[in-house]
Amino acid sequence: MMTIFSPQLRSDLQEALIDWFNSHQRDLPWRRGYRPYEVWISEIMLQQTQMERGIEYFRRWLLEFPDIESLARADEDRVLKLWEGLGYYSRARNLHSCARILVDTCQGIIPADPALLIRLPGIGPYTAGAIASIAYNQDAPLVDGNVGRVFARLFKMEQQLSDPTCKKELWQLAEALLPQGRARAFNQGLMELGALICTPKNPRCAHCPLSHLCLAHQQGLTNDLPVPGRGPTILPIEMATGILCHQGRIFIQQRRTKDVWGNLWEFPGGKREGDEQPAQTVAREFMEETGLSVIVGHKITTVTHHYTRYRVTLHGFSCTLSSEQSNHSCMPILSAARDCGWVCLNALDNYAFPAGHRQLIEFIKKNK
Ligand code: ADE
Repeated sequence: MMTIFSPQLRSDLQEALIDWFNSHQRDLPWRRGYRPYEVWISEIMLQQTQMERGIEYFRRWLLEFPDIESLARADEDRVLKLWEGLGYYSRARNLHSCARILVDTCQGIIPADPALLIRLPGIGPYTAGAIASIAYNQDAPLVDGNVGRVFARLFKMEQQLSDPTCKKELWQLAEALLPQGRARAFNQGLMELGALICTPKNPRCAHCPLSHLCLAHQQGLTNDLPVPGRGPTILPIEMATGILCHQGRIFIQQRRTKDVWGNLWEFPGGKREGDEQPAQTVAREFMEETGLSVIVGHKITTVTHHYTRYRVTLHGFSCTLSSEQSNHSCMPILSAARDCGWVCLNALDNYAFPAGHRQLIEFIKKNK
């Protein structure tokens, strides 16, 4: 059921939130001038990324790609390298495509209209609302996880936030509450409140500018709202990979564009099958993916990495070419990759690898 509120409550909430935002907001790099390019980059980076980490990546990105033109001109390898470690690499590929589209079709100007923004690759309703309101102060609503939590508590919404009817209601609320001409401060105020005060655990209600309006606070329900959803089931996966060294160089291959981690680089390897030993996995995967016959040597280390739905244990092995193979040819026949190369250890830093493979590289560099 749609939440009802009076015009008085609406304006109290708007004023209290904007005043609070104006005096308590964090000093974030893109808030200095609200350049649309910076707002866009920050919003894409901050999806699924902690603020501190986002700021670090944002600063490095701006040094290399200070504007949309430099991003449009960049090689995708460089774009992925600057994204390395943030995960969800389609965000980086989409940023790159958007930059090229906007430079080619509208002089590199990022649209202010959410209806135009949403037609661009990688821009959904939240990002369209964020760019329109934060960069251009357009009257565009937005809802993200922080805003959902703030509304669930303020208005005592008792459905799960992921429920489609609840999502619709959240967007209606965001639109109905938006003060005309002040969306930049209002929308950021909601998100900032969710990040700093109305946190998932131990919310700081004593410091909240909206506590006098908050139904959850008044009824002692703050810790029960929003109703928790079922988190994703996390599957354990065991993988093995081989670091093949030949004449001082290491074999790497580039994943195909449409695969997971598309266009990132990796060492050949894959999932452990049946009752295989991890070393057998490496030899099998090498043969399947490259046609190369390798001798699997010692285990270098095992790393783990957590993804949204998987916990990956990755065993890294040192490999050499079998003697028949090195007598014959060290030319691979790629069946799982779009490109490959033989590079020295230090040059691995020029390529973007998925997190587990990057952990292996850092281990090797430290222990060589
Ligand atoms: N998280 C994502 N975008 C944000 C913003 N503009 N302000 C605060 N937190 C955010």
